[in-house]
Amino acid sequence: MRFLSVFAAAASLVGLCNGLGQEEIISFRPSRDGLQLAGKGRSGSLILDGEDWPGVLRAGNDLAEDFGRVTGKKLETTVINGTFADALRHGRHDNGIIIAGTIGKSNIIDSLIKSRKIKVDEIKGEWEAFQSQVVSNPVRGISKALVIAGSDKRGTIFGLYDISEQIGVSPWYWWADVPAQQHKEIYALNKKKVQGAPSVKYRGIFLNDEQPALTNWVTEKFGLGKYDGYTADFYTKVFELLLRLRANYLWPAEWNGIFDLDDDKNARLGDEYGIVLGTSHTEPLMRWTKEQILFLEGAWNYDTNKENMTEFLTEGVERSKNYERVYTMGMRGIGDVESPTLTAELLGEVVDGQQQILRDVFKQDDVSDIPQMWCLYKEVAGYFEDGLRVPDDITLLWADDNWGNIQRLPIGDETERKGGAGVYYHFDYVGGIRSYKWINTISLQKTWEQMHLAYEKQAREIWIVNVGDLKPLEIPISHFLDLAYDHDLLKSPDSTTKWLKQFAAREFGSAVADAAADVMNRYGMYAARRKYEIVNAGTYSVVNYDEADRVVNEWRKLVEDAQKIHDRLPAAARPAFFQLVLHPARAGYIVYDIYVTAAKNNLYARQRRTGANALAEEALRLFDEDFEWGDRYHSLLDGKWNHMMDQTHLGTDYWQQPMRNNLPPLQYTQIRERSLAGDMGVSVEGGFGVVPGDDERNIGLSNNDLILPPIDPYIPHRWIEIYSRGTESFEFKVSPHDSWVKATPSSGKISPKGKTDTRVLISIDWANAPEGSNSASINVTSSRDYGNFGMPTIHLPVNKTMAPDSFKGFVETDRTISIEAEHTSRKTDGDGVSYKTIPGYGRTLSGVALYPNTIDSQSAPSSPRLEYDTYIFSKDAKADVTVYLGTSLNVDPERPLKYAIGFDSEEPQVVQYVEPTPMGALPSNWDPTVGTAVWTNNTIHNLEGGGKKHTLKLWALEPGVVFQKIVVDLGGVRESYLGPPETPRL
Ligand SMILES: *[C@@H]1O[C@H](CO)[C@@H](O)[C@H](O)[C@H]1NC(C)=O
Ligand SMILES: *[C@@H]1O[C@H](CO)[C@@H](O)[C@H](O)[C@H]1NC(C)=O
Repeated sequence: MRFLSVFAAAASLVGLCNGLGQEEIISFRPSRDGLQLAGKGRSGSLILDGEDWPGVLRAGNDLAEDFGRVTGKKLETTVINGTFADALRHGRHDNGIIIAGTIGKSNIIDSLIKSRKIKVDEIKGEWEAFQSQVVSNPVRGISKALVIAGSDKRGTIFGLYDISEQIGVSPWYWWADVPAQQHKEIYALNKKKVQGAPSVKYRGIFLNDEQPALTNWVTEKFGLGKYDGYTADFYTKVFELLLRLRANYLWPAEWNGIFDLDDDKNARLGDEYGIVLGTSHTEPLMRWTKEQILFLEGAWNYDTNKENMTEFLTEGVERSKNYERVYTMGMRGIGDVESPTLTAELLGEVVDGQQQILRDVFKQDDVSDIPQMWCLYKEVAGYFEDGLRVPDDITLLWADDNWGNIQRLPIGDETERKGGAGVYYHFDYVGGIRSYKWINTISLQKTWEQMHLAYEKQAREIWIVNVGDLKPLEIPISHFLDLAYDHDLLKSPDSTTKWLKQFAAREFGSAVADAAADVMNRYGMYAARRKYEIVNAGTYSVVNYDEADRVVNEWRKLVEDAQKIHDRLPAAARPAFFQLVLHPARAGYIVYDIYVTAAKNNLYARQRRTGANALAEEALRLFDEDFEWGDRYHSLLDGKWNHMMDQTHLGTDYWQQPMRNNLPPLQYTQIRERSLAGDMGVSVEGGFGVVPGDDERNIGLSNNDLILPPIDPYIPHRWIEIYSRGTESFEFKVSPHDSWVKATPSSGKISPKGKTDTRVLISIDWANAPEGSNSASINVTSSRDYGNFGMPTIHLPVNKTMAPDSFKGFVETDRTISIEAEHTSRKTDGDGVSYKTIPGYGRTLSGVALYPNTIDSQSAPSSPRLEYDTYIFSKDAKADVTVYLGTSLNVDPERPLKYAIGFDSEEPQVVQYVEPTPMGALPSNWDPTVGTAVWTNNTIHNLEGGGKKHTLKLWALEPGVVFQKIVVDLGGVRESYLGPPETPRL
């Protein structure tokens, strides 16, 4: 026991309690002055006030059930009217009592305030705040109680769910089948917890583009409503989830449904639960797109059909006026497209007219207390730029580019606007350049970077994220809502690492938390390198840097690690782990494996290899595995999530989803015939050519020669491949002309029916190699003939040059220096300004950016910089330096993103790498760039002399500039997706 408690204390030091960093109030072992809530055969009880919000009573009932899930015994719930005295007439009240209620709505809470048993000054009047504390003798007959007081309806609800979560019921207990923890005893710690107003006022999700997965699933499990949308049986599950996640805001599905009309209960229950409803950016005054189509008389055109539109919109407000809602203002064209007729001037009139409707319906002149939002999405931002201004009490909702890059944030005196600002963000999207709506592709670090920027730039009124079908995005949803709820807990650039561990501990237990967090972290990076829908056989290089193989191997390792954790978990915990971790890991791996296998098939076929055909078969097998793996998801828990993986994801060839999956093109070689150049084929790293006989890459040489990329002491080896290109087996020998060149293996047997391909590593015995630049030749001989051609010869440029022993830093190798941005030799900080690493950000390792985001523009060379010592052998080099940056956009048009760069004492070159655009428009190179998840920009630097040390200096000049990687091309960089892997660092 003692050992256990020490262990538990250690776990809580790293914050691995159930509450994801929230202050702990619950313990599972006795503590000094703690209050036992459950155990020793007792069932605690919960006292609520009948006059309190129905949503509070309902959430109280959830808490009672949650105790049952954890201990096997539900809380006894007592709903009282009037005084405690009334309550005490019923039943025993001597132990495990929780009293919960809302200030001003609960007589119990108000009487505790009056009798000074609790003090609520810190939360009173606050938005969604609560406090909880153990109170002695709250009232005669009760010796101790845990008292939760909420400042308002949701304050109390969050206070109740705070306990649920801390006793071990995950917000995802139903939606992702996270099993409740099992505890015999539960105690409340003797302390007072005060949870103030959330960081962001309205925090929520948008169910969007809900076909095929979500709608097919809802149809099967709940049936559809009157207008083919979803009913309350479905929505109440969503409401509860949101509240447990401490969110409060929902844009219901709108692609094919009318929330308010699909089920008479939807609107009432939404409000009763405590969820604030909104409609999407394109649906003003609470009328859904489908209503615009079905019910509006005449055209959706304010210019020509103002009267009918006013009547139509008025109905929307009438229908909503008794509920807590945020009204979307403005308009777009019908069906989420640009209106052909709107102008900035007309839109101003539209908004004035809409505010008049609010005045008329609510019968009040001042409508500033009615939450209103105007979303500056796509072309609508253009009207804003054209000078349209909206009343100060309307929240400006800035949008991202649908790919997670926020386009604009409050600038100048916009931060003073009464209505404030917010962000409409995307985790799922239907549109250009490609729809992405299958499984999770979100980098949490990128979400952190962007939303932290939004927070610091004062966009704190509304955060809403498009989550598609909801289901496969559990992790990014949780993370986003946590960032919005208690941002201070997650304000540090390395917070994501910590958050993932806390999340993993809550969902899978602390025993596997580190390992699971590591898998989730890697998954996020791999999946965010490129949306699955735009990965194809050409994405990763199959000839340079072993890129394709390295990437697939990372995925394979990820799946192995995930599978190991899965197999360690108790059976009850596996379905959750499968849904949240193992399924996406393996699903992603299969997609990558399909494309890389197809890419190799294409390469092998181009080289007429016998092995091409087996790769085609392998791709077909993987294609089937992709289907089977989705099926596994569907059959989980007797089909609970059937259809959730209905989304197609392979073979997308324009922006829209494909109607069926298909494989990339595969090629077959006629393996019953010999090639004209004999049975043996030889190819080398870095090229597609094959000898003997193929002259594709044999510049200036015969068609029996190939050239390898150069080798130097910092490169362990180069490779050549020898393979079957015919019908007969043969033996090969690899014979370097020089004794200091080694081939491994130097001989072997290739058979068209057995081992069809082999890779031979070429390395150098540097101790015996001559100094300077040389060229080594290697013959490859076959036991059979070479058809009409001669014996293949491979040429290897060899460069024996090394940096002095005293040098520390990055050394030129392969005529390249590739640097991960965090690997600085030194960096300088400024007054309250410093570079921070965002671990796991970007495509390969991390990001480095200046913080805090509130700093002014910086100017090189005096501002804080990063320095990298390099050693460059090339003489009078023209260094072409590519900087890889996060895909952030210019959120402040007056302060576009910029960096400065220079070697040594060179005048820094200032680079503005995101083209300035009018608001609402995207840079002209956004299209080909956004899918790569990186902005790149290059500068040229002339370095005099050769064989010396140079210091590369890099300055971020604005917040939002995130460096990922720096590649100095000295003539050796070859084509790849991720860029050359990092150069060895001495
Ligand atoms: C308390 O009052 C509510 C309505 O205010 C009523 O629905 C409920 O039945 C009452 N409960 C008790 C225990 O009297
Ligand atoms: C407005 O609605 C009426 C029917 O209520 C219809 O007759 C009229 O044409 C509509 N106006 C326009 C401009 O479409």
